[in-house]
Amino acid sequence: MEKKIRLGIIGAGNFSVSHICGIKNLPFAELVAICDINPEAVKERAETYGIPHTYTDYKKLLERDDVDAVTLPLPDQVHAKIAVDAMRAGKHVLCEKPMALSREDCSLMVQTARQTGMQLMVGQVGRYTPAFVKAKEIVESGEIGELTFMEAEYAHDYSKIGGRGGWRITPERHPILGGGCHAIDLVRMIAGNPEEVFAYANNKVLVDWPINDTTIAVMKFSNGVIGKVFNSHGCKRAYTMRTVVQGTKGTLIFDNTNPWISVFKEELRGDDMFLNTRQQTVEMRVQLSLNNHNVEGEIADFCRCITEGKPVTTDGVEGASTVAVGLAIVESVEKGLPVKVDYEF
Ligand SMILES: NC(=O)c1ccc[n+]([C@@H]2O[C@H](COP(=O)([O-])OP(=O)(O)OC[C@H]3O[C@@H](n4cnc5c(N)ncnc54)[C@H](O)[C@@H]3O)[C@@H](O)[C@H]2O)c1
Repeated sequence: MEKKIRLGIIGAGNFSVSHICGIKNLPFAELVAICDINPEAVKERAETYGIPHTYTDYKKLLERDDVDAVTLPLPDQVHAKIAVDAMRAGKHVLCEKPMALSREDCSLMVQTARQTGMQLMVGQVGRYTPAFVKAKEIVESGEIGELTFMEAEYAHDYSKIGGRGGWRITPERHPILGGGCHAIDLVRMIAGNPEEVFAYANNKVLVDWPINDTTIAVMKFSNGVIGKVFNSHGCKRAYTMRTVVQGTKGTLIFDNTNPWISVFKEELRGDDMFLNTRQQTVEMRVQLSLNNHNVEGEIADFCRCITEGKPVTTDGVEGASTVAVGLAIVESVEKGLPVKVDYEF
């Protein structure tokens, strides 16, 4: 029988349900304990989902010998401290995105993973979204030629999602880091690391929040590719991560909320009798399963990497690189200038 990875969850808020269900659905994972500083939250989750052990102090959970790894659906501000303590206590860590809100915290987490030898995975869950995985596969197959441009958006109305205690409504929690990290990470996953960004932002909807609710950033990559990330936490529309990837021979358009990818390929070109009016592209729809927030897939990968002693794909440096792009965007907005991204962690 496959070895079971025994897990604890620290944080029993909204998103913990995805972690709980993800773990419970996997035959090779076992949920041993859950912790939250809020005793009612932890009690409710434990009773609803039958979790045997509960804590209000995460350090007590970390003392358990029968916990191999922890997942951290916690406010972004405490990711670094608790991830570092967990790794030092000998636990592998799956930390929610964004990895942290500052470069210093990201560096500390990366260094701690190196020093302790524990796996540190960052929950950039888009890496497990079927449309995104398929799009990467199509780009890598060369089917749309050489990449020229990529844009991704993260438009999600946050007006009613402040986080327990309002931790999302704080000046250091820029939406481009908090939610925009999904779009940034998707661009990095397919097009690689942008070397420079230039951004504008405004705050016209969530006017009581001390942050810009809408941001647009253009990007340039060392291989000549250009890109764009758009993030809105104030938008009045359905949640979307609509994305366009353009190559020399075709274009992909997809979303995390559509069960297909549109693939456009040039069919007829040219100097024909209709003065180019027949120049057109053919759309092909690639069907796929709709699985936005595939936390189960993410936790399955985390457990398999631990069991097989393989490094996780979205490790500390990957998570930190996505934060680095977000921080460069924030800096660009503040300075009104293009900013180079520093990926040294
Ligand atoms: N991957 C995704 O798409 C996705 C989606 C939603 C949220 N998230 C991330 O998940 C994390 C949690 O988000 P949420 O919506 O569940 O927030 P939430 O506010 O609903 O829950 C956070 C919980 O952490 C608890 N907590 C705070 N400090 C603690 C501590 N020191 N020890 C133990 N518990 C503590 C709070 O009491 C609260 O119950 C955030 O990092 C968020 O960005 C990711």
